Amino acid sequence: VESVIVAIDGPAGTGKSSTSKAVAAALGLSYLDTGAQYRAITWWMVSKGIDLSDPARIAAVADQPAIVSGTDPAAPTITVDGVDASGPIRTQEVSSKVSAVSAVPEVRTRITDLQREIAAAAVAGIVVEGRDIGTTVLPDADLKIFLTASAEARAARRSGELKGADLAATREALIKRDAADSSRKTSPLAKADDAIEVDTTELTLQQVIDHVIALVRSRR
Ligand code: C5P
Repeated sequence: VESVIVAIDGPAGTGKSSTSKAVAAALGLSYLDTGAQYRAITWWMVSKGIDLSDPARIAAVADQPAIVSGTDPAAPTITVDGVDASGPIRTQEVSSKVSAVSAVPEVRTRITDLQREIAAAAVAGIVVEGRDIGTTVLPDADLKIFLTASAEARAARRSGELKGADLAATREALIKRDAADSSRKTSPLAKADDAIEVDTTELTLQQVIDHVIALVRSRR
């Protein structure tokens, strides 16, 4: 069976991670969460006290942390300078600061290079999830999916994950982050022209997974 590269993009709370992990596991592919990489570099900058209101400061240190992603969909990992970062990258502080860091071109170049190396090393193929995978990181992907869902559905899913977090506040935070990610100059959140859009608002997670698996099988 030939190697296959699947790009799954979309805003926060559309089910990208759950879908991507399940599709990769079902098809024996590697898995890469690119949002985790941007969160990891953001966490490192916060812990070093870098002034995140200054893009020049962010750019100056963008090459410093070693960021390593484990690509087993059953147990994805991320370390920063050898330290497990999988817990700390999910805090509200990192969520609220990551868009400022990910908008800096030097950060994007650094992380995009890592992503391409990881995809090239995945022998059986890989599912890569993010915001700009189909448009910028892997424009030659065999299959591009763009997941969407209503703001209400996305906020409800995310506050469920956060175990009872305030729905209105979660909705506001998601909308703010998507607006920042969509409006930045360098590789914004966008649907590639050749991506297949899947609106997940009225679908169960299993329905989305089955649909994407069928699309991958039809392409390989
Ligand atoms: O997917 P997740 O919500 O964890 O992504 C966190 C943040 O990382 C996004 O809000 C965005 O700022 C950034 N990101 C990005 N490009 C990607 C993936 C994530 O800019 N390919």
